[in-house]
Amino acid sequence: MKTTISEAAKHIGEEVTIGGWLSNKRSSGKIAFLQLRDGTGFMQGIVVKADIGEEKFQEAKGLTQETSLYVTGVIAEDTRSPLGYEMQVTGFEVIQEAVDYPITPKEHGTEFLMDHRHLWLRSKRQHAVMKVRNEIIRATYEFFNTNGYVKIDPPILTGSSAEGSTELFHTKYFEEDAYLSQSGQLYMEAAAMAFGRVFSFGPTFRAEKSKTRRHLIEFWMIEPEMAFMDHEDSLKVQEQYVSHVVQSVLDNCRIELDTLGRDTEKLEKIKAPFPRISYDDAVTLLKEKGFDDIEWGEDFGAPHETAIAEAYDKPVFITNYPAEIKAFYMKPDPERPEVVLCADMIAPEGYGEIIGGSQRIDDLELMKQRYEEHGLSGDAYKWYLQLREYGSVPHSGFGLGLERTVAWIAGVEHVRETIPFPRLLNRLYP
Ligand code: 4AD
Ligand code: MG
Repeated sequence: MKTTISEAAKHIGEEVTIGGWLSNKRSSGKIAFLQLRDGTGFMQGIVVKADIGEEKFQEAKGLTQETSLYVTGVIAEDTRSPLGYEMQVTGFEVIQEAVDYPITPKEHGTEFLMDHRHLWLRSKRQHAVMKVRNEIIRATYEFFNTNGYVKIDPPILTGSSAEGSTELFHTKYFEEDAYLSQSGQLYMEAAAMAFGRVFSFGPTFRAEKSKTRRHLIEFWMIEPEMAFMDHEDSLKVQEQYVSHVVQSVLDNCRIELDTLGRDTEKLEKIKAPFPRISYDDAVTLLKEKGFDDIEWGEDFGAPHETAIAEAYDKPVFITNYPAEIKAFYMKPDPERPEVVLCADMIAPEGYGEIIGGSQRIDDLELMKQRYEEHGLSGDAYKWYLQLREYGSVPHSGFGLGLERTVAWIAGVEHVRETIPFPRLLNRLYP
């Protein structure tokens, strides 16, 4: 009977066949241990010479790394492995022999591994990271679908910028100019006025010349937008959403977190509510911590974010930033118009900002004024202004960067390992 490694637990004591690859092996005179992978997991296969015969045993000993094969054997409990079972091999059939697989069990440099990303994805660690990513995506759909949100897909090719024009990738759209989307937000605002609560999940592009462990040129963002929700309501959604995602990974990715050596005690603590600190207080805190370079009105960099996050063991919201350093659409605080109703969610353990969000300006005149102050003009935003003209309502939304969230939850140092094929400042291959 054909099955997979992840399903094999249901077949303890039975003989099954699994299609897979040989990821590693070791052997002695009488016994060979095959490390098998099939995409669903990693499992040990044990080949005993006395059971399988001399000829087949020699063939097993000669199997090369990443050779594809069908392995047949009896599934047996194995309490020492995280998987909990292994296979007593009774036979195998090679599909294709792999000769000189480039990624050997020895250490390789990151650039070498990145050049071989199409093969590196097969490794146990990369497999674990992608499974965590997949679980975060699954839990995201679960959270928003069970809370009455409609998934809406904004366009990727756009005629204008959503945030700031310096980070745009330009392309031709027949005779017109077009740009790759850096955020679907403005379209999601239109969607919120049609469907109430909406969320998107898709790729976004930033032509930023940043070369840090938190920056990708192409990354995936989840952007919820909610009609009739103020800033405070939005913060509650954010902390519940992030808590749900973390707890889902803990529930469903135990083997992967173990493979990654993640300290799960730190993740167990991630439950709503999350602490909040105002931008004003954050500046004071930074000055107390010896950051003399920061003045009110300046944006925080990675070291500042890390220093603020250190004070907490949960993600922290930094709220009410100065209007000047934030996007044109953010609603000014009615009591203090120099700051806006916004928050960045900073992950613990130095992973930095994972969410940016705000209440949006709903007043037509103020929106027009802001829009001109930011040097935006022309017809490109006419449709966006109309949202404030025809039944405008208070609304809020946010964007969660998937790869930074994966990096934090999986405990991976650099975002380049959290997306299957990273697009980096100097990398468009493979
Ligand atoms: O803070 P950002 O730029 O916010 C927006 O784009 C809003 N329009 C979202 C909204 O309100 N709908 O980006 C949101 C998140 C960041 O917090 C970060 O997690 C991630 O996207 N992000 C990046 N991730 C990887 N590489 C980059 N270059 C990123 N830039 C932003
Ligand atoms: Mg931001």
